[in-house]
Amino acid sequence: MLKKKIQDALNKQVTAEIYSAHIYLSMAAYFGSINLSGMATWMRVQYKEELDHAMKIFDYAIERGGRAAVKAIDAPQAEWQSPLAAFETAYKHERKVTAMIDGLVDLAVAESDHATNNFLQWFVSEQVEEEASADAVVQKLKLAGTSGGALFMIDRELGARVYTPPAAKAEAD
Ligand code: FEO
Repeated sequence: MLKKKIQDALNKQVTAEIYSAHIYLSMAAYFGSINLSGMATWMRVQYKEELDHAMKIFDYAIERGGRAAVKAIDAPQAEWQSPLAAFETAYKHERKVTAMIDGLVDLAVAESDHATNNFLQWFVSEQVEEEASADAVVQKLKLAGTSGGALFMIDRELGARVYTPPAAKAEAD
């Protein structure tokens, strides 16, 4: 049985993960509007992955006898000055999510909830990947500068990203 404090914190993270999904969907719309379809594809995949994160926590709360809750989601930012600005927002956002996950782990440890601590370790590792992948694009876009050719190449590369459902991913790991 989940302690209420842990249950509420997990529900808050579900909301944060759905908010993350909405930010990336909003970025997909932005990239679509400026004809960078590869970047839009990358963001659509990211959107789905964030929904998977939310559902993973949602399901865990229920499995532990908690009461999962669905809350209002704030509207995400809709416009950016450039592709670089959008990916910088993504990187900054992921660092914020990492801090939230760390806070959840701290809470689980403080409450001696070893199962939740164990469950959260997947997210601790995932955040390393999340930060690294957003930062890698930021660095590439910085190198590209104002070169249209380089931007085109990056867009084509990011467009190759494919969504892998969680079950298939677990089998591949
Ligand atoms: Fe769910 Fe991008 O962290």
